[in-house]
Amino acid sequence: MDTPQLAGRHIVLGLSGGVACFKAAELTRELGRAGATVQVVMTEAAEAFITAVTMQALSGRPVFTSQWDAREPNNMAHINLTRTADAVLVAPASADFIAKLAQGRADDLLSLLCLARPIERCPLLLAPAMNREMWAHPATQRNVAQAAADGATVLGPAAGDQACGEVGDGRMLEATELLDDLGAFFQPKVLAGRRLLITAGPTYEAIDPVRGITNLSSGKMGFAIAQAAREAGAEVTLVAGPVHLPTPRHVRRIDVRSAQQMHDVVLPLAASHDVFVATAAVADWRPAASAEQKIKKDGSGQVPTIAMTENPDILATVARLPQPPYCVGFAAESHDLVRHAREKRLRKHVPLIVGNLGPATFGRDDNTLVLVDAQGERELPTAGKLSLARELVREIAARLAP
Ligand code: C5P
Repeated sequence: MDTPQLAGRHIVLGLSGGVACFKAAELTRELGRAGATVQVVMTEAAEAFITAVTMQALSGRPVFTSQWDAREPNNMAHINLTRTADAVLVAPASADFIAKLAQGRADDLLSLLCLARPIERCPLLLAPAMNREMWAHPATQRNVAQAAADGATVLGPAAGDQACGEVGDGRMLEATELLDDLGAFFQPKVLAGRRLLITAGPTYEAIDPVRGITNLSSGKMGFAIAQAAREAGAEVTLVAGPVHLPTPRHVRRIDVRSAQQMHDVVLPLAASHDVFVATAAVADWRPAASAEQKIKKDGSGQVPTIAMTENPDILATVARLPQPPYCVGFAAESHDLVRHAREKRLRKHVPLIVGNLGPATFGRDDNTLVLVDAQGERELPTAGKLSLARELVREIAARLAP
C-alpha cells in the first residue's frame, strides 16, 4: 500500500472491546510497514478479545492498559502518551466507549488520554464497531454526533456480515481501509470544496457482439488521481472505461464502454465541475457500424473491411464549453514527449497537459510525468502512480483561481 504520509508518524492506537480487535492486529502491522510507530492502549474489555502480548509483539512496544501503570517516571501515562502522538485512532471504538467520550468521562486509561490529549495538536479518529441495532440506536447516533461535534473524525462503519450473524451497518472498516483513511487524513486539503471530473481507462469500440478495438490502458493513473483528489478534500466523479480496478473510497464512479458513451456521460457533468482531468486513453476511431451478429469466417479467404469513423474528442469539446472547468489533458506518446505535449496543449486549448511515455507506463504501478503549461515544463520523476497523483493534485490546486 502506498501511504508515504504515514512514514515517521506516531500513532496511539486504542482498542476498546469488540470482535473487531483482530483487525487492529493487522492494522498495527500495516502501520509499521507504512513507516509509522504505534503505541497500543487497550481497555479491559479489549483484553477479553485479544491479548496485550499479541499487540506488543506486532507494535514492538509494551502495551498500556491501565491508568495506574507505574512504568512512566512521572506516573502519568494518560498525559505522556499523546504528547508525541500525531493522532489517536480508536479501532475498534465500541458503543460504550463512544458513549464515554461523548460525556467526557475518563475512568480508564484510553478514555482518560482521549480527554487529556492536546485537542489542537493531536486529532482523534474513531472506527466504530458494533452490532447494527447498537449502531442504529438513537443513543449511539447521538453519542457519535456529539463526539464528531467535539472534533473526532469518524471512519466508517461499513455494512455487511456481522460477527453476531446479523447483516447491516456497524462493521469496523478493514485494516487496509483504515490505513487508507488515516493516510488520507494527513493529506493537506488543497482541493476542499472543489469538484473534479476524471476520465480513466481505455474505451472499447465494438466491431460485432464479441469483438472490439481497445488499448492497453489499465486506468491506474486515473484511479490514482481520483483517490488523491478525494484525499485532498475534493468531491470526485470518475468516469471509467472497462478496467479491473476497485473504486477509490468515497469516489462516485460511472462505468462506460465506448468513447461515445464516455462523451455522453461527461458532457452534461462538465459544467458543474471545477476541474476536468482527462486521463482516459480514448479510442480515436470506432467501426462506423457495429455488426449486430458475429461476423463469420466463411472459408472463402475473404477478410472483412471495417470502415472507421472518428470519435468525438471529449477533452477538446469540454475545453471549448463557454465556461469550461480547468482542463488537464494527458499525452501518452512513444517519442518526442515534450514536443507532442506542447502541441496537444495548444490544439486542445487546455491550460495543462501531462505527458507520459505510453508504452512505458500502461499497466505499470509507476510512471514518470512531465507537466506542460504556458510557463514551460516540469518533470515529476519516476514514482508510484499514487505519489505522482498526489503531486499532480497539488500542482492543479496551485493553478486554480482562489
Ligand atoms: O489526442 P490524444 O488522444 O493524443 O489526446 C490525449 C488527451 O485527450 C487525453 O487527455 C485524453 O483523455 C483526451 N481525449 C479525449 N477524447 C478523445 C481523445 C483523447 O478526451 N476522443
